Order: sequence, then C-alpha cells, then structure tokens
Amino acid sequence: MKDKLIEIIKEAGELLKEGYFSNKEVNFKAKKDLVTKYDVAVENFLKNRFSKEFPSFTLIAEESDNTDIKFGDSIIIDPIDGTTNFVNQVPHTAISVGVYKNKEPYIGVVYNPILNELYEAKTGCGSFLNGKKIEVSKENDFQKSLISTGFPYTSGSNQNDLNDVIKKIEIILPKCQDIRRLGSASLDLCYVARGTYEGYYEMNLKAWDVSAGILILLEAGGKISNINGEKYKLFDDKYIVATNGYIHKELILNLNAK
Ligand code: IPD
Ligand code: CA
Ligand code: CA
Repeated sequence: MKDKLIEIIKEAGELLKEGYFSNKEVNFKAKKDLVTKYDVAVENFLKNRFSKEFPSFTLIAEESDNTDIKFGDSIIIDPIDGTTNFVNQVPHTAISVGVYKNKEPYIGVVYNPILNELYEAKTGCGSFLNGKKIEVSKENDFQKSLISTGFPYTSGSNQNDLNDVIKKIEIILPKCQDIRRLGSASLDLCYVARGTYEGYYEMNLKAWDVSAGILILLEAGGKISNINGEKYKLFDDKYIVATNGYIHKELILNLNAK
C-alpha cells in the first residue's frame, strides 16, 4: 500500500508545485485561516485516487465536510499543510497523509515538493527521508535544545489562547537554545524525527496536521504526548508535545509551569 500511496502523493505534489509558483487568489476560512483553489484541487485529486485504490478506508480531509467523521480504518489528509507559507512562497509546505488501521497509525507520508523532501514511515519499519533512515537527536540538555512551535489561528480572536502562547514562550525561550516557528506542523514533526529539532509543541492542531508526522516521529525513536505526558489523542487533545524522548519530561514541566 505504501508504494502506491507515495506514487499518488508525488503526482499530487506536481499540482502543489504549480500553485506555489503561480499567482493565486486567497480566500479566508477565518480571520487568519487561508485557503486557495490548490488546497481543494490537491485534496480532490488525492481523494479521488485513494478512493479507487484503497476502497476499504474512510477518507478524512481538511477541506471536506467533517461534520460526521468516521474514524477507524482511515486515511487522514492535509492537502497543503503550511498554506500561509504556500501563499507567500515560503518553501516549508507539504502534503501530509496518515493511514490508520483501527484508529492506530499504520503509514505516514509527508511530502514537500518544493524542497524535494519525502518523509515516510510504516509501523515497525523505521522512518525515512528520501529513502535514507532518519533518527531523532540524542541531545538531552534542554538548554542546548532547539524547540519548535506554532501559533494557532485562534491567536487572532481568542485572548486566552494568545496569552497561553506568550506565557509558554516566556518560560521556555530562556531555558532552551532557541525557538523556531516554521509554519507547517507536519514538517515540524518530521524535523524532530530527523534530529533537527529536539522538541516541538503546539495547541489547537487538527488531526490532519499531525496524522502522518506522529508515526514518522515515533518510528524515528521520538516521543509524543499531550501536555500532561499522557497518550496524545487525535481529534481530542488541545496540545501536542513531541520530542526526541530525552527532553520530554522537561518540556512537559516547562509547558505546565505557572
Ligand atoms: C497549519 C500549519 C501551521 C500551524 C497551524 C496549522 P494549514 O495548517 O500546520 O504550522 O501552526 O496551526 O493549522 O492551515 O496550513 O493546513
Ligand atoms: Ca495543516
Ligand atoms: Ca491545510
């Protein structure tokens, strides 16, 4: 299944690339939440091909009607993760596809066609970037750790969320090497998986932002939890915390510090 999945995602990558280099109209789903015709085109292309190739899986996708989600044996699709980057030609943007069997991760693929980076993982088989095995960093000193995060779209409308973002940065920034905000949650998880970042956290993500990256990080030796250090629940948890494992406890402590 993985090879076919990748073949289809690479084809969809051509569409993303075409859009990235063209002038495009931008629509707003909310104050800060953008969408273009390419988000919809990539999603429709993937759904169409996946439904023919993998008919036993339900398809869950960002730009579709998600009022009645049937999560089980599912393929969870973010057609363009990092749409703000895509619109502004910042090259950190990717197609993210996570395959779940009985609600457990089975295959994850994150493809950035602009930088030509394809991350993939299958349960029990490790994680790969363009065919080469990747592993998390071994850094265990929080002060030397590069941490990534993201800012929720709700930071433009919800004062509590904005306060929480600022409070956490105020606590974590002096204690770590530095903080990055790359603009694509799926790639953030892959960057922890490849050992570039030691840790990553973000609030208010949707299942399609992380469905693939979760498995890619776990198979690269990393750790994922919610903000209490418990198993991260797709569709449920407000915060995701993802690390190389070595700094996990300390990141959780800092995220909960008052
Ligand atoms: C967004 C990106 C971004 C994260 C946002 C996500 P989108 O996804 O992953 O990095 O900070 O919270 O919603 O809207 O570009 O698919
Ligand atoms: Ca996304
Ligand atoms: Ca998206």
